[in-house]
Amino acid sequence: MTGFAESAKRGRETTHTPALDVGRIRRDFPILDQRIHGKPLVYLDNAATSQKPQSVIDALTHYYAFDNSNVHRGVHSLSMRATQAYEDSRKKTQRFISAADPSEIIFVRGTTEGINLVAQSYGRPRLRAGDEVLISAMEHHSNIVPWQILCEEIGASLRVTPMNENGEILIDEYEMLLTPKTRIVSIVHVSNSLGTINPIEQMIEMAHARQVPVVVDGAQAAPHIEVDVQKLDCDFFVFSSHKMYGPTGIGVVYGKRDLLDAMPPYQGGGDMIASVTFEKTTYNTLPHKFEAGTPNVAGVVGLGAAIDYVQSVGLPAIAAHEHDLVNYATEKLLTIDGVRLIGTAKRKAGIVSFVLEGVHPHDVGTILDNEGVAIRTGHHCTQPVMDFFKVPATSRASFAMYNTRDDIDALIAAMTKVKEVFGNG
Ligand code: ALA
Repeated sequence: MTGFAESAKRGRETTHTPALDVGRIRRDFPILDQRIHGKPLVYLDNAATSQKPQSVIDALTHYYAFDNSNVHRGVHSLSMRATQAYEDSRKKTQRFISAADPSEIIFVRGTTEGINLVAQSYGRPRLRAGDEVLISAMEHHSNIVPWQILCEEIGASLRVTPMNENGEILIDEYEMLLTPKTRIVSIVHVSNSLGTINPIEQMIEMAHARQVPVVVDGAQAAPHIEVDVQKLDCDFFVFSSHKMYGPTGIGVVYGKRDLLDAMPPYQGGGDMIASVTFEKTTYNTLPHKFEAGTPNVAGVVGLGAAIDYVQSVGLPAIAAHEHDLVNYATEKLLTIDGVRLIGTAKRKAGIVSFVLEGVHPHDVGTILDNEGVAIRTGHHCTQPVMDFFKVPATSRASFAMYNTRDDIDALIAAMTKVKEVFGNG
């Protein structure tokens, strides 16, 4: 048994009875109660997007049925109600990540737009030719390409902290890569293709010791781990609603107020201005300076409902439950001949990536779908991670609070079908 498998077994023993009523939770998610190709749906693609509880669906319906209007613009009742609901969700989001002030919460389309905002609005005015932006080897494309575009334009360099064969950041190398040229660190909290939970507290501390600000890609962390941005002391934290039981098309940039205040707007348009003449425009205060145009009001309202739902269950219980699932899945997958795990870090969130010898992950995914099991296959928008592990793609099962050990048993049974079809069963 590998060190990781051993620790997975120990972890499973210690978290055997998570305090989560999964039966009740599952009833809150109507989509789960259906059959795919005649088999009960087993949804294990939560890192791509999670399903939505009825309360989120109801919040969206209620908003459109009763409150729909534009925000910050009308004196009529509907506009005031919509504005109230929109700003209430901002306060919920602030409390959810323990930000100091609601004005530090900017609503955007998702993590990708959030990182682009930070790169363009914080990075662009500060970077000079010869400067460096430091990321890691396990970043999602959305935390590589925006920085690459910026660096190319400015003549700065993108530096990459390497990882080891388990998919863990090499912290000594990170320290060495923090040089007087480093202007920004942008790092993923939880890897979407490996499941690694990075030691971001330590990484932030090390960067700050050299006066380097840190952007955290929290897309895979926010649904699974309690985040306190003030304790972390990160400068920016970016995440998406749709991976944490909320609607698609809405995300959050948290930024420290003094940094956001000093940044120019990302986009120009309505709502982000204080006054406009053809000669000069002055900008609105935070957070509106960064929210040009009619925002995704329904999405923000839905995000507020998702936060309420997550908090009603409790992130510590969700994390313990998913920890149990990832350990159970790891142990079971390792019993299948020819399975190789990609990502065996000591600290992992609810993601298990693997390859099956001699079978392309897309074939694995297709056969699993026939068995009602939904996973993601491909490079997961992390092509450099695939290159590092010398695989074209992986199969990835990713867990949410409504998953059960039965779901994992169904995954394992479906994998047996894959082996039968490919004649290595
Ligand atoms: N970034 C999402 C994933 O990992 C889409 O699947």
